[in-house]
Amino acid sequence: MLGLKLPTDPRWVNIVEKNIEDILTDHAFCEQKATSTAISLIVSFPEYTELVQEMVALVKEEISHFKMVHDLILEKGWTLGRDRKDEYVIALLKFFPKGGSRTTQLVHRLLYAALIEARSCERFRLLSEELEDKKLATFYKNLMVSEANHYTMFLGFARQYGDRKEVDKKWQDLLDFEAEIMKKLSKSETIHG
Ligand SMILES: [Fe+2]
Ligand SMILES: [Fe+2]
Repeated sequence: MLGLKLPTDPRWVNIVEKNIEDILTDHAFCEQKATSTAISLIVSFPEYTELVQEMVALVKEEISHFKMVHDLILEKGWTLGRDRKDEYVIALLKFFPKGGSRTTQLVHRLLYAALIEARSCERFRLLSEELEDKKLATFYKNLMVSEANHYTMFLGFARQYGDRKEVDKKWQDLLDFEAEIMKKLSKSETIHG
């Protein structure tokens, strides 16, 4: 349902299980970046009224996810660490050429956002099914549902604002590109690593 072309190697969960502090730190920053993305879309595309309205709601939701992860880190007696580079996102953002019309740029940003939500959702599902810590598994199950809705929303907006056929072709090409990136990943204790 997420359209992803390469499922995550389930052994990734074993790496995560040994490094809960690292995964929670990385995850906290993912939620922060999701919040920033929503704000940045409001700043860059103010005339897309429906998008602006949805992004306002998304800012609130993503920052509340950040708080949930942050609270969990504190509950475990830890302090939020520093952000690390997200190699996955850095590689992904090289796909579409820079420039183009405003609509083209918007569509590209929406497709990137849809894909990052989709992959996060897939990773959260895996955590919810495989983690031995049942409390943490439930935590990820709830978040998985939210991220699935975000994926649908971003892809829906891309199709709404761009040319439907063109957007669908770009989406498929981006999914192929992402699958290539994923072949080299699934080896570290980060949400997308
Ligand atoms: Fe989130
Ligand atoms: Fe999200």
